[in-house]
Amino acid sequence: MQNNVLILDFGSQYTQLIARRVRELNIFCEIKPYNKVPQDMSVYKAVILSGSPFSVRSEDAPHPDLSQIKGKIPLLGVCYGAQYLAHFHGGLVAPSNTREYGRARLTNIKNDERFFYEITDGTQVWMSHSDTIQKLPEGAVIMASTGDVENAAYRIEGEDTYAIQFHPEVYHTTQGKLILENFLVHIAGLKQSWTPDAFVETTVAALKEKIGDDKVILGLSGGVDSTVAAVLLHKAIGKHLHCIFVNNGLLRKNEFQDVLDQYQHMGLNVKGVDASARFLDALAGVSDPEKKRKIIGKVFIDVFDDESHLVEDAKWLAQGTIYPDVIESVSVTGGPSATIKSHHNVGGLPDFMKLNVVEPLKMLFKDEVRRVGASLHIDDERLGRHPFPGPGLAIRILGDITREKVAILQEVDAIFINGLREWGLYDKVWQAGAMLLPVNSVGVMGDERTYEKCVVLRAVESTDGMTADWVDLPYAFLQKTSNSIINKVPGVNRVVYDISSKPPATIEWE
Ligand code: XMP
Repeated sequence: MQNNVLILDFGSQYTQLIARRVRELNIFCEIKPYNKVPQDMSVYKAVILSGSPFSVRSEDAPHPDLSQIKGKIPLLGVCYGAQYLAHFHGGLVAPSNTREYGRARLTNIKNDERFFYEITDGTQVWMSHSDTIQKLPEGAVIMASTGDVENAAYRIEGEDTYAIQFHPEVYHTTQGKLILENFLVHIAGLKQSWTPDAFVETTVAALKEKIGDDKVILGLSGGVDSTVAAVLLHKAIGKHLHCIFVNNGLLRKNEFQDVLDQYQHMGLNVKGVDASARFLDALAGVSDPEKKRKIIGKVFIDVFDDESHLVEDAKWLAQGTIYPDVIESVSVTGGPSATIKSHHNVGGLPDFMKLNVVEPLKMLFKDEVRRVGASLHIDDERLGRHPFPGPGLAIRILGDITREKVAILQEVDAIFINGLREWGLYDKVWQAGAMLLPVNSVGVMGDERTYEKCVVLRAVESTDGMTADWVDLPYAFLQKTSNSIINKVPGVNRVVYDISSKPPATIEWE
């Protein structure tokens, strides 16, 4: 990739957002931790320094060597990046009297035609910092100020080095994307050619070249990533791609057959493997959520291993890994991050894992995977599908799992999800599902007293699942759904709606 931007990450919560904005401009970019500046900078046409939770004045402040970059490649420092370029080049960064958070107006724009091209004087920008640049570095000229921050933007004369104290990547910096475009296109001369169609074309060609006539195995989950990865590979190598779609008995109602039919309709070479009994037998009597996950992970690997042996001479294992899974993160605390839930548990190394790995979506963000999917003509329903956890309904049945409980929850879930679709609410929700609680409650049906199960409906808004809020679904919808569940699903006499945000709650109940 010769038309590339490097984003050096100093640990800011907004680093991925910078990358997303750059990609939205149809320009390719990569994120690297500040302490891993690539040796070979020849592929990069511009560099952006991110913000950071550190202060440049602290002893452990990130301090990479930029001698191969500054003055040689167009460089933009954002927030910490701007302070870094000032502090280590003869300027002065000091604590500001007040922490400067939130909106400000950028005024007195001057001294550069290209960087602030078509930017309005007084435009709103977003600040989030507690240090301030009191004295500019050597060779710097001021480009703009705000009410509280005199040196809000500067550049170094004789270099394509720019620095801004505000965050152009956040939504509240109204013209932030245009500022990034000015820097990347007008100053660094990058081409806006990173489009889904271009990605498909170059990736398919690269996959053909890499894989040749070898056979590839891929596990489909029904989700967006594995589906897009499969269709891309299919375009490159056709029937040499062998897809395996496993029914773990914990999918949504009719999901296995429906999705299998869709995959076959797309022309994929897919084998459906119904291993429900193997999973449900292994889960019998287990209530602990982490144990459930481990068992499901292990049985999945066993089933997949058995199936992969049936594909003779397979050389490659394809995976739908996406960019947020592979970005190396900068540890702000210095320690490893806590494991909240064990999503992947691999014991030993099964044979299929000894294959070469191919990950065609490894450089894409989720929204880009969807755009690539659309360019491959995958239908909107599949691309807009809510996330669904790998262990499926197992982590939505609190307590032990039985076939009867799975059947009850499948019915409840289907009424809820189909209802969301019928009411035009499905696409307004990021994820939705139902949980079966391990408690019975008293009810009355006709003249009879009942003592039956309680289910929870949960619908959340989110962008990445890291934080989430419950969705304010219309009362009329909740009322109809609740009635329908209690009338149609034997064994359930109570429906509740979960109104907790994440944090402190999580999206799933286990
Ligand atoms: P939580 O419950 O942690 O969920 O707020 C965040 C997102 O992750 C999904 N999730 C899982 N996905 N295996 C998965 O593949 C798991 O064990 C698992 N646990 C939670 C959850 O559905 C939500 O989208």
